[in-house]
Amino acid sequence: MANRVGSKAWTDNRLTSRLGLEYPIIQGPLGGLSSQRLTVAVSNYGGLGSFGAHGLNPEAIRKVIREIKSLTAKPFAMNLWVSMEDEVALTSTEEAFRRSLSPLAKHIESVGGVKPSYLPYEPIRFEDQVQVLLEEGISVFSFIYGIPSKQILDEFRRQGVALIGTATTVDEAVALEQAGVDVIAASGFEAGGHRGSFLQASEDSLTGTMALVPQVVDAVRLPVVAAGGIGDARGIVAAFALGAEGVQMGTAFLACAESGANALHRKALLSGQAKQTALTRGFTGRLGRGIKNRLLDELNQKGTEILPYPLQRALVRHLAIPAEKAGRPELLPLWAGQNANLSRCTDVHALLDTLVTEVSEIGGAVQSWSAHRQPAQAQDDQLTGESR
Ligand SMILES: Cc1cc2nc3c(=O)[nH]c(=O)nc-3n(C[C@H](O)[C@H](O)[C@H](O)COP(=O)(O)O)c2cc1C
Repeated sequence: MANRVGSKAWTDNRLTSRLGLEYPIIQGPLGGLSSQRLTVAVSNYGGLGSFGAHGLNPEAIRKVIREIKSLTAKPFAMNLWVSMEDEVALTSTEEAFRRSLSPLAKHIESVGGVKPSYLPYEPIRFEDQVQVLLEEGISVFSFIYGIPSKQILDEFRRQGVALIGTATTVDEAVALEQAGVDVIAASGFEAGGHRGSFLQASEDSLTGTMALVPQVVDAVRLPVVAAGGIGDARGIVAAFALGAEGVQMGTAFLACAESGANALHRKALLSGQAKQTALTRGFTGRLGRGIKNRLLDELNQKGTEILPYPLQRALVRHLAIPAEKAGRPELLPLWAGQNANLSRCTDVHALLDTLVTEVSEIGGAVQSWSAHRQPAQAQDDQLTGESR
């Protein structure tokens, strides 16, 4: 790649060696706002591009993988949600649908949308999505909201696929290590998007990145990737100082032209006005973080009835699509982390150039805690290529 910058010191560690990366920077999966273009741009640069495929049916996932592979020979991650729905979604009633539609109905009308009718939920099966990943062959599989069965993990391992599990608490990190994943993404409370917790309620799994990462590093032997609130080189350096061997950044990449976020969403991220974010269940039924706006505030009002995941997501989409067309960002789910206002991305290459240059410039600090803490183990792992 032309215009490669930066010293190598902070880039040679267990994460880059296990995943085959030049830089320990992961573009976090962005669910429905993922794009092949973004994934490919990050991977071609030498980071890890990821694609969040949980909302797609198996055949759509197959198409995405083939398209990404046609554009890069580098490693990229496909990401799924182990838990695809809240159990109560299967029994949720038309009456509940009407109650949750009620606060949105006036907005749908105001943007020229069509008021939706109740449709019974039709699940997409995680196991069917996994099957396509196995059939198509990928190099990295990342996941949130749980741990896949041993049988599924064994299938991936047989294919040599690197496994990244996401933890929002120390206990989740330990459970993921016991299940035999290769890398832990430790996701702090600041992060954009959903919380992904699976051992306790998301509301009880809200440790910030600064506190979570060193505790996870102490509790597991695997390489840890810090996620949540990292918006620039300073955040990357801080994550390494906490013992992380890589970072996963979502919001910073969401603002890039290559992402799947719409123009209003990107404008909000880059406006300099994205100063406040908040957690809500209102966008989808599961707890996630977005920029505070009228929609988020109204959905967070006490007494507002929210459907279980993913029924609320489908409902809000009936507002979001026409609201985007009508140019009304205050009625859009504007997903973002607490770092939203640090967003500067013009294009992915420029963002990565800046990150790599700046981190390399302050590289002394970056060599970090993990090398200091367990030099013998880290060296040993690198020599054997094993992470546990
Ligand atoms: C719009 C959006 C969608 C996301 N979707 C997923 C997803 O499907 N799977 C996942 O593991 N993480 C998902 N994340 C989390 C990111 O991959 C990443 O871990 C997180 O954004 C890091 O925090 P930051 O936003 O503060 O950088 C999403 C984040 C955002 C902002």
